[in-house]
Amino acid sequence: MLVTAGPTYEPIDAVRHIANRSSGKLGLCLATQAARRGWNVTLLLGPIETSENYTHLTVKRFSSTADLEKLLFNHAPTCDVLIMAAAVADYRPIAPPTTTKLRRRDGPIDLKLEPTPDLLAKVASHRRAGQLFVGFALEPEAGLIEAAREKMNRKGINAIVANPLQTIGSDTIDATLLWRDGSVETPEDKLEKSAFASWLIDRIEQSRALNPIYTKAPDADQPPQTKIG
Ligand code: CTP
Repeated sequence: MLVTAGPTYEPIDAVRHIANRSSGKLGLCLATQAARRGWNVTLLLGPIETSENYTHLTVKRFSSTADLEKLLFNHAPTCDVLIMAAAVADYRPIAPPTTTKLRRRDGPIDLKLEPTPDLLAKVASHRRAGQLFVGFALEPEAGLIEAAREKMNRKGINAIVANPLQTIGSDTIDATLLWRDGSVETPEDKLEKSAFASWLIDRIEQSRALNPIYTKAPDADQPPQTKIG
């Protein structure tokens, strides 16, 4: 299982960056709980402070979207399940001077941003039969489900967790899980992030158990793995 968690930092210069408020908590809960259940877990973890010593899983750290892109494209081809909980930046400064510091001047300055690649859509375009990819959609409460469904289809993934904006940085989560076949699952109550992680892994394990394509060992009738990146 490959899990991504945390924000990205997009450099402005040698000492400044653009970030978001993701705590990475949910992704950390997903990774540690999956490892406890016996999954072989690789966690791609963003620039958050953590004192935990993750001995039971493999942790690789990223800072920017570009770092995460490299790690993701290295690890995704061989995973059975990808849970993309990282809060990836949508824009980043173009050609930041990463070895010097911008000086204060009188008057405003313009920061020119370029869109980042949609990592999940890119990696999902190479998804093999048997791989299950789950994304997250952080959306305003109004129109949450419709926007999440549209995002799942656009990114070509198997399922998406629809989250209201309030989830970011909070300890609890009020989420809905949408599947590509149109089915929708919701926990009975608002849950602590660790309880939600357990609920989501249950759903993923159930889906894999019910659908033999996910549990079949890789064999000759699978197309050869595409190298991506
Ligand atoms: N994501 C990604 N690459 C990006 C942006 C987002 O892989 N450049 C992933 C996130 O990890 C998440 C999913 O896509 O699993 C949805 O992220 P979200 O920020 O909700 O959506 P966006 O694709 O950014 O679309 P929008 O700006 O319309 O909300």
